Amino acid sequence: MDKFLVHGGVRLQGSVAISGAKNASLALMPTCLLTNGSMTLRNTPNNRDLGTMSRLLGSMGVGMSLEGDTLTLDSSNITSHEAPYEHVKQMRASIYVLGPLVARYGEARVSLPGGCNFGPRPVDLHLKGLEKLGAQIEVSGGYIIATCPRLQGAHFHFDISSVGASVNVISAAVLAKGHTTLTNVAIEPEVTNLAMMLLQMGAKISGIGTTTLEIEGVDELHPVVAATIPDRIEAATFMLAAAMTKGDVTLTNVEPEHLDAVTQKLIDSGATVDVTDNTIRVRMDDTPEAVDITASIYPGFPTDTQAQWAAYMLTANGASRIKDTIYPTRFGYVPELQRLGAHIETGEGYCVVKGNHKLTGATVMSSDLRASASLVMAGLAAEGQTEILRVYHLDRGYEKLEAKLGGLGAVIERHRTEEY
Ligand code: UD1
Repeated sequence: MDKFLVHGGVRLQGSVAISGAKNASLALMPTCLLTNGSMTLRNTPNNRDLGTMSRLLGSMGVGMSLEGDTLTLDSSNITSHEAPYEHVKQMRASIYVLGPLVARYGEARVSLPGGCNFGPRPVDLHLKGLEKLGAQIEVSGGYIIATCPRLQGAHFHFDISSVGASVNVISAAVLAKGHTTLTNVAIEPEVTNLAMMLLQMGAKISGIGTTTLEIEGVDELHPVVAATIPDRIEAATFMLAAAMTKGDVTLTNVEPEHLDAVTQKLIDSGATVDVTDNTIRVRMDDTPEAVDITASIYPGFPTDTQAQWAAYMLTANGASRIKDTIYPTRFGYVPELQRLGAHIETGEGYCVVKGNHKLTGATVMSSDLRASASLVMAGLAAEGQTEILRVYHLDRGYEKLEAKLGGLGAVIERHRTEEY
C-alpha cells in the first residue's frame, strides 16, 4: 500500500502533458472483442484501471502490448467469454465487455459490479438495453449471464443519461441485425470517442455527438488504428491545482472544448485562462472568488471534478455551494478535508465550502479516485505536511500524478506503508 507526503505552500508553474482519457480507453479497449485481428490504440494512459482492463481482456485470450502510449490488442484467439468477480470487483467498467461479447459470441458471463464508495450505481439500464436488442439475461450466483444467437435492432430509450449503459448498448447494437434507434444517449466525449472508433471499424452510426443515435447493424467490423481523446478530468484537476496555488500552468495535449464548463467557472472565480487548439494556460494572481457549481451531465460541470472544485474553493473569498445531481452522496471527501481545517457543511446532495480558512497538514485517507485528487490539492495549499493514505484510489485514474505535479514544482513523496 502506498501513501503520499505532500509538502504544502508551493506555487505550481510550468507545463504539463495530459494523458489519454482513462474513461475513454476503458470503453475503446473492449471493442477488440467485436472483431478479429490486431488493433492499435494511440494516446493510451497507463494507470491502474487500464491495468485491470488489460488483465480482464488478457484472461479472455486477447494478446496485448503497450509501448509508450500505444496499445496493441490482438483478438484472434478469444478463449473465454467471462468477466470474473476478481476483475469486476476492482473496476465497475469491467462490465463494458458484456455488450461486445453477447453481440459477437452470442454469450457472456459477467460478474455483477458491487457497491460503490459514492452511492448506489445500478446497471439496470445496461441490461434493459441489451434485453431490448434480444439478449436473454439471467442473474445467478452474482453473475449476469447474457445469451442470444444474434441480436436484433430495436428502439431503446435510456431513462437516465448513462455513460456506461450507452457504451455497452452502442457496442452491442453495431453488430445487431437491422436498425437500432437509441434515444437519450449520453453525449460525454468518451461516448463520442467510442462511436467514432466504431465508425472507423465499419459500423454504421449516425447522430454521433447527439442524444439520438441511428445504428444500422453490420455483419462484421474490422480492426483499426484509433486514438483516445485527452483526459478532461486529469486536465481539470491540473487547471484547478494551478489556480489554487496561485500558479501559472500550461496544459498540453488537451481538447479545450471538452473543458468549457470548468474553464468558465475558473474565469468566474478570477483566473485567467488562455486557450489554443490543444493547450490551456491557467494563471491566478489573486485570491479566488467563491463560485457555486452544479455537477450534471455533459456539457455540464463534470461530477468527476466536483471534489477538486471543493478543494479549490477552500482558498476562495466567501462561501460556495457544490451540488451533484448525478451522485448526490458523493461527498465522502468532506470529513477528510475537515481534518485539514476546512470549513464545509453538507446537506442533501450538496455541500457548502467556506473559503479562506487556514489549512494545516494532517493525515487523511483517500476514499475514492477523485476524492483523493481533492486531498492532494488541499495538501498543496496547506501549511506543513499532509499524509495521504490509500493512494491506490488515485492510481486508478492518474498517471504518475506526483511526478507530473513535481514537474510543476510540487514536492510529493510516495512511500510504501503498512498502514491501511
Ligand atoms: C461514468 C464514469 C464516471 C463518471 C460517471 C458520470 C467511466 C468508467 N466512469 O460512470 O467516472 O463519474 O460516468 O459522468 O466512464 N444509472 C442507473 N442505471 C444504470 C446506469 C446508471 O440508474 O444502469 C445511474 C447512476 O446511478 C448515476 C447516473 O445513472 O446516477 C449516471 O451514471 P453513469 O453515467 O452510468 O456512470 P458510469 O458510467 O457508471
